[in-house]
Amino acid sequence: MGAGRRGGTRETLLLVMVALSFVAVARAAVGGVVVDGGGGGGAGGEDGERFLRLRTGGGGEADDQEGVFKWDEEEDDDDDEEDQEEEGHIMMWGKGTGHPPTRRNVVNVDTFGAAGDGDADDTEAFSNAWKTACSLENAVFLVPTGRRYKVGASTFMGPCKEKMVIQIQGTIVAPEEPSEWDPRSTRLWLLFSGLAGTRIQGGGVIDGSGSKWWANSCKINKANAVTIDLSRGVRVKGLRVQNAQQMHLTVYRSRNVRLAGVRIDAPEDSPNTDGIHVAESTAVTIQNCRIGTGDDCISIVNASFNIRMKNIDCGPGHGISIGSLGKDGTYAAVENVALDTARISRAQNGVRIKTWQGGAGYVRNVRFSNVAVDDVDHPIIIDQFYCDTQSRPCSNQTSNVAVTNVAYRNISGTSRRAEAIKFACSDSVPCTDIVLSDINLCRSDGAGGGGGDVQTVCNCAIGFDYGCVRPAADCLRSSTCGGGPEDRPDDDHHQGKAEAGTPPAAILHTEL
Ligand SMILES: *[C@@H]1O[C@H](CO)[C@@H](O)[C@H](O)[C@H]1NC(C)=O
Ligand SMILES: *[C@@H]1O[C@H](CO)[C@@H](O)[C@H](O)[C@H]1NC(C)=O
Ligand SMILES: *[C@@H]1O[C@H](CO)[C@@H](O)[C@H](O)[C@H]1NC(C)=O
Repeated sequence: MGAGRRGGTRETLLLVMVALSFVAVARAAVGGVVVDGGGGGGAGGEDGERFLRLRTGGGGEADDQEGVFKWDEEEDDDDDEEDQEEEGHIMMWGKGTGHPPTRRNVVNVDTFGAAGDGDADDTEAFSNAWKTACSLENAVFLVPTGRRYKVGASTFMGPCKEKMVIQIQGTIVAPEEPSEWDPRSTRLWLLFSGLAGTRIQGGGVIDGSGSKWWANSCKINKANAVTIDLSRGVRVKGLRVQNAQQMHLTVYRSRNVRLAGVRIDAPEDSPNTDGIHVAESTAVTIQNCRIGTGDDCISIVNASFNIRMKNIDCGPGHGISIGSLGKDGTYAAVENVALDTARISRAQNGVRIKTWQGGAGYVRNVRFSNVAVDDVDHPIIIDQFYCDTQSRPCSNQTSNVAVTNVAYRNISGTSRRAEAIKFACSDSVPCTDIVLSDINLCRSDGAGGGGGDVQTVCNCAIGFDYGCVRPAADCLRSSTCGGGPEDRPDDDHHQGKAEAGTPPAAILHTEL
C-alpha cells in the first residue's frame, strides 16, 4: 500500500494541490468569518487581513484548480453594523434605561405572566409570548436581565414575521427533574424550528440543570438543550449554555447558521454532553466559542457540508470531532470542514475523525490548521475501528466510511500518550490523501525528552508529510494494513482506565 517512494512527481503535484486547497479553505472561510466582529477578538487583526487579501487578490487560481474543493459561498445576508446598533438599543431598553426603538416590537415574557423567580413554571408564559412575538414584524422576544425563568420543554416554532430577535438577557433554567419535562418530548428542551434570519442573542444564560440526567445517563434518555432545526440564516451570538442534559447546542437540518461568542460549560465527567453538535446542515460557521464539557466540544455528523470553525477554545472534553459516522451500516457524508485556530487543552482528543466499522459514504476535504494542543491524549486521530460490543465481531467488516483528503497544518503542543498521531484506518477502505505539515508534538510529562517519545502510527493510511513534522510520519508513505482491532485506540468511555484489551463499551454517543 506504500504510495510514496515511487518518485517525486506525484508527491509534488499533491503538495501543490494541498497548498491550493488551503487557499481555497481560507477563501471559503472568509465569508463567514471576517465580517462578523461579534463575540470579541480574533476575527480581525492579522488573520483577517491575510484572509481578506486572499479573498480579494492573489490565490485566484484556486478557483479553477480546485473543483474538488469548491464550497458554495453562502451569501452573507448580514448587515452587521445595523445589527450591532440594533442590539445596543435593545440591550439598553432591556435594562430599563431607555425606550424601545420605535421600529421594534418588544415582547417581554414578564408581560405574559412569567414569574422569573427560578421556581414557578414559566413554560406557558414563554409559549404565549412567543406566539405574539412570532406574529409581529420586527419583534424582540425579550427574556429580561437579572431573573431566572424555569421553563419546561418548549418549541419555538416559525415561520415568524421578519427580523425576529430573541433577546435572552436573564437566565432560562430547565426543571431539574427529568419527569417535570413534557413527557411527549423528552429529547428536546428548547427547540427553535422553522426560523429564518432570526437572531438569538443577549448575553444571558441557558442552563439545562443536567445533573439528574447525568446520574441516570443511559441510551434511552437522549436530550438536547438547545436545538436549531429546519432553519435558515439563524445567528446565535453572545450566549452561555451550560449544564445541558446532553447535547448543549444542536444545529440540525439547517442552512447558513452562525454561532459566535457562545460559551458552553458542563463538568468534565458529565456524560454525552457535546458542546456544539452539527447534523444534516450546510454552511455553519462557529467562531470565537469557548467550550468545556464531558464529551466532544464540537461534533459534526452526517450530511453536514461547508462547516467552518474559527477561534475555538476547547477543553476539557473530547476534542473536535467529525463523527461518529456510519453506525449500523448506515451511509454518511461529510464534506468541506475547516478548523482554523483552536486551543485544545485537557482533552481526550485534539482533532478527530471517527467512523464505525461496516458503514458507507465519505468524509472528505477536511482542514485542521493552527491548533495548539495542551495535555491531550491523542492530538491527531482518525479512528475507523469504532464498533459496538453488541454487533461483534468487528474485525471482519468489509466496508467503512471513506476518509479522503484530510490536511493537518501547524498543530503543536503536548500529548499525554505516546501515540500522538494515530491514523487507524479501515483495511477495507484505506484513508487517502492524508497530509501533515508543520506538526510539533511532544509528551506532556516530558518523557523521552523533547518529543522523542511520541510517535505516529498508521494502519492503511496513505498520504505524506512536508515541512517540519514531529513525530515523524514516514508511515504515511509506507502504511501497511491489517492492524485490526487489537490496535484500535481505546474507546472513549474507557480512556480513563487505559487498560489495553478492555472490551469497548457500547457507545453512548447520541445523535438526533
Ligand atoms: C445521512 O444522510 C443522508 C443524506 O441526507 C441520508 O440519506 C442517510 O439516511 C443519513 N444517514 C443516517 C444514518 O441518518
Ligand atoms: C500556528 O498555530 C498557532 C496556534 O493557533 C498560532 O498561534 C500560530 O500563529 C500559527 N502559526 C502560523 C505560522 O500560522
Ligand atoms: C468474514 O466475512 C467474509 C465475507 O462476509 C466471510 O466469508 C468470512 O467467513 C468471514 N470470516 C469470519 C472469520 O467471520
